[in-house]
Amino acid sequence: MNNESIVKQFPVIEKEGLHYLDSAATCQKPNCVIDAMTNFYKEEYATVHRGIYDLSQKSTIKYNNVRRQIKDFIGAKSEKEVIFTRGATEAINLVANGFAAFISEGDEIVVTETEHHANLLPWQKIAKQKKAKLIVIPILDSGDLILDNIDKIINQNTKIIAIQHVSNVLGTIHPIETIIKKAHSIGAKVLIDACQSVSHIPINVMSLDCDFLCFSGHKCYGPTGIGVLYGKEELLNKMEPYQLGGDMIRTVTFEESTFAELPMKFEAGTPPIVEVIGLGEAINFIKKIGLEKISSIEKELLEYALKEFKKIKTLKVIGDTKNKTGVISFTLENAHPHDIGTLCDSFGVAIRAGHHCSQTTMQHYNVAATARASFACYNTKKDIDKLVEALLYIEEMFE
Ligand SMILES: Cc1ncc(COP(=O)(O)O)c(C=O)c1O
Repeated sequence: MNNESIVKQFPVIEKEGLHYLDSAATCQKPNCVIDAMTNFYKEEYATVHRGIYDLSQKSTIKYNNVRRQIKDFIGAKSEKEVIFTRGATEAINLVANGFAAFISEGDEIVVTETEHHANLLPWQKIAKQKKAKLIVIPILDSGDLILDNIDKIINQNTKIIAIQHVSNVLGTIHPIETIIKKAHSIGAKVLIDACQSVSHIPINVMSLDCDFLCFSGHKCYGPTGIGVLYGKEELLNKMEPYQLGGDMIRTVTFEESTFAELPMKFEAGTPPIVEVIGLGEAINFIKKIGLEKISSIEKELLEYALKEFKKIKTLKVIGDTKNKTGVISFTLENAHPHDIGTLCDSFGVAIRAGHHCSQTTMQHYNVAATARASFACYNTKKDIDKLVEALLYIEEMFE
C-alpha cells in the first residue's frame, strides 16, 4: 500500500487544505473503522454477555473476537489478560488502585521525568496514600533516560516501575527491555504506557515480559472511549477490581459479593461495545499496512522534517535523540507556542501547542509550552512543506 492509497482511506485527511499533524493527541479514522461502527449500529447492535436472543449473542461473539484479535496483536498468552477499559488513563488508574495493596510505607514507585500526567498522577496519589516514595528516572537534554544510576534507582525497595514506552512530547523511545530486566532481577513489576508506541512500533508483551501494558484506541486509528490493559494473569488474579457494578460479579447478596473470573472482573458496567468493534477494525487496518511499513513511513517523514526545519533559523527542536518516533516538539525564538499553533492553523496546518499533559517535561527544558508536530501513516511530505512554509512566515512576522 503506498502513501496515496493510505491517504484515500481517511476522509478528514483527504480534505483539500488540511495538514493534520497532531496524531500524538489523536489519530484520524479510516473509512473501515467508521463503516464498521456505523454498520454495527445499523445492523447488529445489542448488549453483550447478557442477551439470550440472537442479536445479543451475535454481538457478543463479535465483541469477544476483538479480544482475541488484541491478544494476538500484542502477543499475550491468553484472552483473560486483555481487559477493555475506556482509555489508557482508566487502565493506569485500574493498575495503580489495584496494585496499591502490594505497596507499603517506605516502598518505592519509579516513573520517568517525561511521563504523561495519566501515568504520573495516579502513582503520585498511591505514593502519598501509602507513604511510599515516588522516584524519578531523569532525562538528558536529548530526551534519553539517564540510566547510569539504574542500580540505585531500581533497588530492593522498588515495587513497581510505571514507564512510558515513547514520550508523547519528545518521541523518545525508552529502553524498556533493559528496565524490565532490571526490575525483574529484584522482583519489581513494570507497567508500560504504550499509548505512543502501539501503532508505531511492533510490540510483543510475552517477549518483552512486561507485567502490565496499556494503550488508548483513539491513538491507533480507532475510536475514543476504548482502551486496553494487558496484565499477566497471575497478577490480575491477585488484584482487587477498582470499579464495581454489573457484569463483573459471580454472586451478590446484601452481606457479600463475589467477582467474576478474568477479564470480566475488571469490566464493570455495560462496556463500550461499538468502540470495541471499531478498535478491532483499527487493528485490522494497522495489520493490513503492517507496522514495519507504518514505522518506515513515519521515520522518513521525521528525517525530512528535521532536515527542512534547518531552514528556520530560530527554530529549536526540543530533545534531539536519534532514537525517536515521528513526534517533534519545538520552539521559535520570538513566538509563543500558542501563537505558532494559531498561525499554523491559518495555513491549514493542525499542530499542538501547550505542555502536552507533561508539565514535568516542560520543567526539565525550562519552558512553559512547546509546539508539537506528530506524524501518522497518512501524512506526506506535503504536510511538512506546508508546516515549514507557515513557520517561515511566523518567524518573519515575530522578528
Ligand atoms: C504517553 C501517553 N500516556 C497516556 C495518555 C492518556 O491517554 P488517554 O487520554 O487516551 O487516556 C496519553 C495521551 O495523550 C499519552 O500520550
